Amino acid sequence: MSARAPLSREEIVRLDRAHVWHPYTPIATWEKTDPIVVARAEGSLLWDADGTRYIDGNASWWVAALGHRHPRLLRALREQAEILDHCALGGIAHEPSSRLARALVEVAPRGLSHVFYTDNGSTAIEVAVKIALQTWQHEGARARKKTRFIALDGAFHGDTVGASSLGGVEIFRRPFASVLFECVRAPFPEANAYARAFDAIRDVVRRERDTIAAVVVEPLVQGASGMRIYPAEYLRALSELTRENDVLLIADEVFTGYGRTGAMWACDHAGVTPDLMCIGKAFSSVVPMGATLATDRVYDSFRGDPARALWYGHTFCGNPLGAALALEVLAIYEDEGIVAQAKAKGARIAEAFARLAEVSGVSGVRALGMIGAADLGAGGYAGDRGWRVFDEARKRGAYLRPLGDTVYVCPPLTIGEAELDELLEILAASVRATLT
Ligand SMILES: Cc1ncc(COP(=O)(O)O)c(C=O)c1O
Repeated sequence: MSARAPLSREEIVRLDRAHVWHPYTPIATWEKTDPIVVARAEGSLLWDADGTRYIDGNASWWVAALGHRHPRLLRALREQAEILDHCALGGIAHEPSSRLARALVEVAPRGLSHVFYTDNGSTAIEVAVKIALQTWQHEGARARKKTRFIALDGAFHGDTVGASSLGGVEIFRRPFASVLFECVRAPFPEANAYARAFDAIRDVVRRERDTIAAVVVEPLVQGASGMRIYPAEYLRALSELTRENDVLLIADEVFTGYGRTGAMWACDHAGVTPDLMCIGKAFSSVVPMGATLATDRVYDSFRGDPARALWYGHTFCGNPLGAALALEVLAIYEDEGIVAQAKAKGARIAEAFARLAEVSGVSGVRALGMIGAADLGAGGYAGDRGWRVFDEARKRGAYLRPLGDTVYVCPPLTIGEAELDELLEILAASVRATLT
């Protein structure tokens, strides 16, 4: 059989069941499921091999902010592939990675001036952790004790061991807890109690500042733990707190960056420049890629003696195809006014979720930018209520993978208004069908 001969839908599922190990998927559930088998994608839509059309309600795990197969991205990919496909970045410079770094620095919160490329969001965090640790190693005997990290309850920063150590979602941590490094946990700043949460982290930072390397946060929205939103005031105060106490601030914009919250960066809502900012997902939109941006203060501490070098790097970091794509992503953001679009469409999402709050059985709703979420129970990620909505939404033509008992939408920022309304109607009808 030729490897290129098209497979039937049934054959794809058979091969998949035999050999593919799926992320975040219990095997027993998978074996019982008749899965969506995506054959093609365009804009905000996915097509099953059987011809069924689905609206991509989460932009394929928050990546396709510009929708699928944006013609300019396809062109950029083709053109770059004609010239230079892959080339190591160790001791080599190339045009896509240099131009991209400059473009990123121009668009990033002011003061972030250097870009370290990685393969994905988790490794963008992983290197931020190492950079933070090593920065303090360079600052003398006293600073060398600064080896601990603070992260928030419910945080999610990726799946490598370092990133998991910062994570605060118990179900993801538990199997690996024995090897994760210690992380000081601070309370999540609920909107109605963020001042109290801030007092708690302020006390820890002041008391432990001699041993704390950095505070790591998802600015404004914790994605994986249920689209939990907190006030910009908390982030602003946290930035001042870390500066006053000589502790680094690492902002994980892997999910919140690129306009998802209605501003280019969630940090922009608070006017904050972190010491390190991690990006991924929408950043390259098509191929896996991440990056960590650093201030001069951090970068400069690695200058001088070769022993100060950052002995770290991933094989595909700065990959020319990814860099060319990421550069075109930024150009499209500018040319198509993507962030302004997100802001305008976000109002529709907020209204739809406000209406959902009136449905009996919906225990909480929230929205920010192109994110809307509703809680249907208190089971967290292990809850199954969102999965019932998933099944209903699938029947109605939308892909709405939940976060356990929380259902949410995070569509492409470029979704058309008619498709966005359709998605929101499907969500509302599916929630009603599930709860009543
Ligand atoms: C806030 C945040 N950080 C990091 C990551 C990890 O990114 P990746 O899956 O590309 O490694 C994620 C993934 O969902 C994320 O939401």
